[in-house]
Amino acid sequence: MKHFISVDQLSNEQILSLLKTAEDYRNSNFEMKVPVFAANLFFEPSTRTKMSFVVAERRLGLDNLDFHAGNSSVLKGESLYDTAKTFEAIGANLLVIRHESDTWYEDLEGKLSIPVINAGAGAAEHPTQTMLDLLTIYQEFGRIKDLKIVIAGDIKHSRVARSNAIALQKLGAKVYLSAVPGFERETLDFPYLPMDEAVEVCDVVMLLRVQHERHDYSVGMQDYLPAYGLSKEREKRLKKHAIIMHPAPINRGIEIDTNLVECKKSRIFKQMENGVYVRMAIITELLKNWGIINENTINKCQTIISN
Ligand code: NCD
Repeated sequence: MKHFISVDQLSNEQILSLLKTAEDYRNSNFEMKVPVFAANLFFEPSTRTKMSFVVAERRLGLDNLDFHAGNSSVLKGESLYDTAKTFEAIGANLLVIRHESDTWYEDLEGKLSIPVINAGAGAAEHPTQTMLDLLTIYQEFGRIKDLKIVIAGDIKHSRVARSNAIALQKLGAKVYLSAVPGFERETLDFPYLPMDEAVEVCDVVMLLRVQHERHDYSVGMQDYLPAYGLSKEREKRLKKHAIIMHPAPINRGIEIDTNLVECKKSRIFKQMENGVYVRMAIITELLKNWGIINENTINKCQTIISN
């Protein structure tokens, strides 16, 4: 694996091996004996993904080159390609990119001599979110196979919906979708369930944010929670062992009742924590595959964090 771009390119073995490394990294910190620079190029807003990449990079001993599209030469019309080539030229060893285009990585294919990680591509892909969601489910159930997982909400515009549905199916889960009429996605071939049925059958309910910024129409939200969201009443009908997930940011009171965000079944903040470990695992794997680091250039430090 030279880049981390799409769940379509990952084998089950690669996914499982990265999840194992991520678990191992939970209490680990590292030190680089040589300078290694990571550039986080976010062209779309981000809190969790960007900051967990920063924490992952720092815990690995990397230096991060911060970039803010809003006060960069992007404002002078510079393209993603020229921005990426600039960071490569000045010595970045790794690029983490989020961009509103579904296919931004095609412009870079074969044109860079450093690894690239996809931190979000339009409505199409969010493979590192998928990895942290898989880790969260493994921690809970010890497996993915045969679990019933419903992905519910704005299926049409969510990159998390697509990446997660594909990866979960690959690993043997029974994936269902639940969407507001008009938010279904023709290119995702999975059975749809109404939310009332979904909560009764599933082991995992994965809620999605309504992606207002990707709609070219405005959607009335006042009836969303009782009709399609995870209300208190629906939460009571979940299986005893079922868990609630959401990639966040959360529209409290729309896709989920605000009192359920931190309820016993919620793993929403656990997902965020896991984001650091999976990103550490992915970064190390790529840097090793490119020969940028090896066992001699990285020092494992003593454990300083214990959960
Ligand atoms: C998601 C994203 O950006 O796709 N957020 C995240 O990375 N945790 C989900 C969203 O924005 O709805």
